[in-house]
Amino acid sequence: MKLHRHALVLAAAAAAFAAPGHAQQAAPLKVGLMLPATGTFAALGTAIDNGFRLYVAEQGGKLGGREIEYVRVDDESDPAKATDNVNKLIKRDNVDVIVGTVHSGVAMAMARAAKESGTLLIVPNAGAAAVTGPMCAPNIFRSSFSNWQPGYAMGEVAAKKGHKRMVTITWKYAAGDEAVQGFKEGFEKNGGKVIKELNLPFPNVEFQALLTEIASLKPDAVYTFFAGGGAVKFVKDYAGAGLKKSIPLYGAGFLTDGTLEAQGADADGLLTTLHYADSLGTPRDSAFRLAYVKAYKLQPDVYAVQGYDAAQMLSVGLAAVKGDVGKKAEFAAAVEKAKIDSPRGAFTVSKAHNPVQDIYLRQVVGKENKTIGVASKALADPARGCKM
Ligand code: PHB
Repeated sequence: MKLHRHALVLAAAAAAFAAPGHAQQAAPLKVGLMLPATGTFAALGTAIDNGFRLYVAEQGGKLGGREIEYVRVDDESDPAKATDNVNKLIKRDNVDVIVGTVHSGVAMAMARAAKESGTLLIVPNAGAAAVTGPMCAPNIFRSSFSNWQPGYAMGEVAAKKGHKRMVTITWKYAAGDEAVQGFKEGFEKNGGKVIKELNLPFPNVEFQALLTEIASLKPDAVYTFFAGGGAVKFVKDYAGAGLKKSIPLYGAGFLTDGTLEAQGADADGLLTTLHYADSLGTPRDSAFRLAYVKAYKLQPDVYAVQGYDAAQMLSVGLAAVKGDVGKKAEFAAAVEKAKIDSPRGAFTVSKAHNPVQDIYLRQVVGKENKTIGVASKALADPARGCKM
């Protein structure tokens, strides 16, 4: 009996060696998805997750020859819980790669943990300057944007439209602050002046007092960064306060991305800048949109694209190291020289690991962010403070 079992084990081992493609079958690659599943950014987390899984499914469930296995954590867009949450993935679940997140404050804690542990991190949204600035590292990548990018592009657009005095309004946290700083830089370099920076704490949506202040300041126009549920309410309240008719509202494109169903006519005509739009009409984007709608019965948005491209960047790196995430320098070198075939348009990845990409000017027409043109071609984040 004993002998018999031994023989079986030997036979199985021999078969495994003999079968081509099976002898070196690697263990699955564990991807830790740390995204918001609750709160004002919940829908954004879902779209990123959907986009990521769509690309992996299109590759037959494998990247770099390894099956992909998922572990999920709801980060609640809460910076106070971020270090505990990311450590669950790194220390408890032993993930090979972390993909996350939406909120800049949470992402900074994730970047810190990734830098300390050496775990591969791909940020599929959060634009925090620090991630590809002072905290940049060989194992940290971003598939989305920096908060500066859409802001700077809109600053130039608003100045060229002849606006001189503008007010900004946003949530008081890294993303809001940096989006406004980017806008201010582009606007003031081109002759404009930001006369007042209005804020409220994240994720508050009590806008009335600030809208009253805007009415009394009478600026030429307003620039804003809001996203998710907060963006829906802001656009509705801005119109509801009667400001839409008299003071043009401009935004980082998150203001109207993934939100148009809920905003309805109150969003109509709004101009925003972003690295994606709904009417690009390229074969690459059309194929992506078709596949996304088929898989999820939902229209894709910028977040879905960023999730999809996080998987593409992982795929490029893994292919170069044949699935061995330990080879960090080779992984990084492959991503740095790649052209990522994104639905947004092909982009390259800077030395600091942020996309170098076109920023589109878009206008809301019905339920779409229609492409008006390219506001800024191949715009690179300045990556201030990155030494790598
Ligand atoms: C951010 O916190 O960096 C952030 C959040 C939501 C967005 C964009 C940026 O849509």
